[in-house]
Amino acid sequence: MEKDYTHVSVLADEVVNLLITGKSGVYVDGTLGMGGHTARLLDALSPEGSVLGIDWDPEMAALAARNLAPFGARARIAQGNFANIDEIASREGIRSISGVLFDLGISSLHFDKASRGFSIKNDGPLDMRINPDNPLTAYTIINQWPYEQIEHLIRVCGERHSGRIARAVLDARRKKPLETTAELGALIERVAPNHGEKIHPATKTFLALRVAVNYEFDNLTRGIQKVMPLLKPGARLAIITFHSLEDRIVKETFSIMAKMGGWELVTRKPVKPTEEETLANKRARSAKLRVIEKL
Ligand SMILES: C[S@@+](CC[C@H](N)C(=O)[O-])C[C@H]1O[C@@H](n2cnc3c(N)ncnc32)[C@H](O)[C@@H]1O
Repeated sequence: MEKDYTHVSVLADEVVNLLITGKSGVYVDGTLGMGGHTARLLDALSPEGSVLGIDWDPEMAALAARNLAPFGARARIAQGNFANIDEIASREGIRSISGVLFDLGISSLHFDKASRGFSIKNDGPLDMRINPDNPLTAYTIINQWPYEQIEHLIRVCGERHSGRIARAVLDARRKKPLETTAELGALIERVAPNHGEKIHPATKTFLALRVAVNYEFDNLTRGIQKVMPLLKPGARLAIITFHSLEDRIVKETFSIMAKMGGWELVTRKPVKPTEEETLANKRARSAKLRVIEKL
């Protein structure tokens, strides 16, 4: 039997309060996941209000369609990359949007489902593609990229032992390709143990691989650029990030937009989850929400 996967939406009250500026508008949830934030938005909107939910992963889009069925035509679902939000919105006949949400990264289902290859704990193939049609996998990076590229990738994602890890990967793959997440996790633990720290020593390498496989920073930058002309005056863009590299992109881009004119920061400092939320949902610990409004 198919396991029942769950995902608890992060900063959901804050998103509803800060994103909705008109109850009958058309909103876009660019990272639909299982539809948690979309459902909360639809509950708060009037019967005329609607949400277009976009997810790059066809499996998530199908799950969300099932979860959001009770909302009928008020919940529209599209499979695609939010970096192409302009084309997706135009296909759906949407010309002006009242608010857009990006809740970045991957869903709990991605971590929990071993076959997707995102998790150090749940052993699976070195995959990590959000959209399984993409050509690049973590396997290709680990088994084919040259030393310099692997070392650079994991260094920019904050791994201090990037040289040691990249060298160990190249030594190991000379004997046989590295196939699974547990194999890679164990190799990193051997060459770069982080005695006493709470996170697994391979955490930063896994994050770096996921970001590269899904060109996440590029999607984020393009997504923001594409949203800008689609928002109507008074509409807002809300972005939840989960690590400092993507938060820096959002912070700097929003700050440039505000300086350019025509945009106002709604959150001068990022909104963070309450202690109560982080106790109830570990994944929320590193979340930061930033919101900007079109004037
Ligand atoms: C953190 S989860 C969203 C959870 C959702 N807000 C909820 O409450 O259930 C992020 C989702 O965004 C999707 N995603 C990641 N990058 C994407 C992109 N570039 N375009 C569209 N969806 C993307 C992932 O497949 C994942 O389902």
